[in-house]
This record gives sequence, structure tokens and C-alpha cells, in this order.
Amino acid sequence: MSFDLVLFGGTGDLAWRKLMPALFQAFRHRTLPEGGRIIAVARDDLSDEQYRSRIKSRFDCVELAKRPTPDEFARFAALLHYLRMDLSQTQDYQRLAQTLNARAADSVVMYVATAPSLFTNVCEQIAAVGLNGPGTRVVLEKPLGHDLRSNRAINDSLRRVLREEQVFRIDHYLGKPSVQNLFALRFGNALFEPLWRRETIANIQITIAEELGVETRGAFYDQTGALRDMVQNHALQLLCAIGMEPPINSGANAIRDEKLKVLQSLKPWTADTIGQHVIRGQYAAGNTQGQAMPGYLQEKGVAPGSNTETFVALRTEISNWRWAGVPFYIRTGKRLAGRDAHIVVNFHPVPHPIFRTPAGVANRLVIHLQPKDGLELHLLAQGAAQHQSEPALSQVHLNLDFEQRFGTERVGAYERLLLDVIAGRLNLFVRSDEQQEAWRWVEPILQHWQDDPVGPRPYAAGSWGPSAASAMIARDGYCWSEEV
Ligand code: BG6
Repeated sequence: MSFDLVLFGGTGDLAWRKLMPALFQAFRHRTLPEGGRIIAVARDDLSDEQYRSRIKSRFDCVELAKRPTPDEFARFAALLHYLRMDLSQTQDYQRLAQTLNARAADSVVMYVATAPSLFTNVCEQIAAVGLNGPGTRVVLEKPLGHDLRSNRAINDSLRRVLREEQVFRIDHYLGKPSVQNLFALRFGNALFEPLWRRETIANIQITIAEELGVETRGAFYDQTGALRDMVQNHALQLLCAIGMEPPINSGANAIRDEKLKVLQSLKPWTADTIGQHVIRGQYAAGNTQGQAMPGYLQEKGVAPGSNTETFVALRTEISNWRWAGVPFYIRTGKRLAGRDAHIVVNFHPVPHPIFRTPAGVANRLVIHLQPKDGLELHLLAQGAAQHQSEPALSQVHLNLDFEQRFGTERVGAYERLLLDVIAGRLNLFVRSDEQQEAWRWVEPILQHWQDDPVGPRPYAAGSWGPSAASAMIARDGYCWSEEV
């Protein structure tokens, strides 16, 4: 199958850090279909050769195992082309159309890795020169909008020029092998399904902790914040994967229909529940791994006195028969104690204990997403023989490490997602109604914060966030996984 992949923003950060390395890995793994062309588009005046040597210098800095040999690079570079374009100029799209029409590849992918403000214009211009035919797929990076209204406006204008099946809205968390495994755990095994409900599960906690701060993205992040950057998309997609009903098949729409129902069932917010169940924080100066770190307000690009949150912890519920009354906690933040994304499923204790057990300990399933990728099942067992009338149990863990088990067979999120777009597989991409529903749910929180003069609570860099996040969960009688 021949393909043309047009990369708008070809000299940008995403192309540089994620897309080109992912395309090279697919090439190395021989999963990138043969007969492809990668056409990087940007404003700079570069020849194909100049662009290739930029990419080569990028590859010289990636970790050794992912670096191409000179021969591999020469073969990969033959796929790379460069087209200078001013994205506001129709005649530049006409030149692009000539380049693409001259070859008429089976599949044409337009990856729009530009500033989000250009998304609709690029799509309209693509359509204006007739490049929106059924063989075209358009990939859009998040954020798609800033709130419900702007998201609707973008999706409405996309709908005027493209069919829904042509739009691939990326949430790179869905491409992570660990998230694939979450679907496999739930829908490829009969073991957990009977337990996956309110009768057996006490609460579920989703944590996406980052050790890094805002790095070079201060100006962007200051307009965005953790709720828009992580909760509206990545964390809610994880919540859907955990909470959804088994889809009727593995087709894209079957999966997306079930995810949509979860989003529609999320308990609506009131001013009271936002006040009690949503905690926002902002990192102050602190220490990460013994190294002094500046606070958020000292980061480059951040407005003085900014109220942007770098941490969110919240409690919600999925109001349906399976989950009614079960708290789902979400927590994400920058400059936390470590890079650690995991989901903890806490089961109820046994209904009638006949053994002594450590206080507050019951069965628990930990799904590690990153940096570790695996499953831990916490059970209770009796070690040495005991002679008391009420024997004591202690905790034991069944530990599965997927990285060790599957090793090099696994592919990175962007590699997987790029191959899916080229093949036209929509399973791991987000449909417009899902995205809209997620915006609808976060919107009251955004509005509440806008009117709240108090602002985010400070937390020290290198900590687990503001203590209010622990107090919030403690009110339900639970604690976060690291506090057990
Ligand atoms: C991005 C956010 O979507 O996800 C970043 O914009 C965040 O702020 C990143 O750092 C986290 O992704 P990962 O794959 O490193 O967990």
C-alpha cells in the first residue's frame, strides 16, 4: 500500500521529539508500509537534503538502541521530503496538491502538528484545493479547543470539509502499550469481569504523576493548566477504559460508543461538589531527587501571579448500574515526587473476617502504566504456621512485568498510532462526541475556578501535591496508593 504522509509543522517540537523518531522505529521494525513518502511542511527555506541532515542530527541524540546505523538512515532518509509552505497562502496548498496528485498514493495522511489555532484553517485550505477526498485522513493533536464552545466550533468546521471517519483525533495515551493491556485485561480475560462492579470494588484511583515541570512550554501551559492538558483527555480516557461496558466487538465505533456512555454518566458537578471534590494546586520551589527546583511562577513564559493549576485531584462517580456510589479518584500533576502513572482498583474487604489482617488492607489490583508496565495483584496469605486462635495474614503480591515479558516486541505510542492512521484504523482515536462530552464535564470546573479568587494551593516541587488532596480522599475513609 503506497502512502503519502504530510507533516504540517515538520520542523516543530512534536515532529522533532516524537513523530520522526516514531516513524524511524516503524521503518526499522519493517511495519511502515513500503512505497511511502514523508513530506515535511514548514515555513523555513530548506532543501530535502538540508531537512534530512536536520533529522540526522536529531537522531544522533536519541538513546543508542534507537539510533539508526548510517545505512539505515540513508534508506530512511530516502523517504523524507521537504516542502516550504506558508499555511495562510492558498497557492502553497496548490503546490502541495500538485505534489500529491502527481503520485496518487493509496492513502494520504495529513498530520497537523501545528499551533492549534491553525487547525481549522489548514483543513479548510486542504479542502479548497480538493485534497479532502475519501483517501485522505487528517490527524489532529490535542488540544482541540480551549473549552466546550471552541471545541464545538472546531468540530463543526471540520465536519463541513471532512467526514468523521477521516478525522483522527490523537490522545497518545491510547497508543501506549500499557493502555492496550488495560483493554486486554478487561476484555480478553474472564477472570475480572464478574468482580468489576460496585458490589466488589470499593474505589478506583487513577494517578498520572510527572516529575518534570513545564520545561520550555511555560507560555503554552500557562494558558492551559492541568485540567485541560491532562484531565480532559488522558485521564478521562483512562477512566473510560476502566469503567466502560464490554464493547460488542473490537471495531472503532463499538469501543467509542461505550466510552461515550461513561462520559455521559459522569456525575454532573454542582458548586458544592466542585468545592469539596476538586483540588487544584501549583508547584512552589522544592527538591526533586535532591536537586533544588524553581516554583511554577519562576518558570519562563509564566505570567506573574498566574493562577494556572499544575495539579488536579478530583473525585467523581459513574452514575450507572455497574458503578453507582463507587468513588473514582483522578490525580495528575507536574513536579511531583516521581514519574508514575498507575491505576489502583481497591476491592472491599471480606464481609466476615475470621483472620487478623493489617489495618485497612484488602485485595487490590494495581495496573502500572509507566514507567513500569505491568500488573500487581495484592492478596493476603498466611506465612509461617500460626497457633493463635485468630491467625494473622500478611500481604503478598503477584507481580507481572510486561516489559520483561514482551520486551522489544512492544512499540511506542506514536509509532503505533502513526501506523494505525496510515492503515485507517480508528480504534485508538477519539470521536468528536466523546471529546465534546469530556469538555462538557470539565467546563463547570473551569468556570468555578475563573470566579474563585483563592487560586490554586501551593505544593512543594518533589512532593505528592497539596495536602488537601489527601484530606479529600480521607473524608471517604481512603488514602492514595503511596500513603498505604
Ligand atoms: C501531553 C501533555 O499531552 O502529555 C504534557 O501536553 C504531558 O504536558 C504529556 O507532559 C505526558 O505524556 P507522557 O506520555 O510523557 O506521560
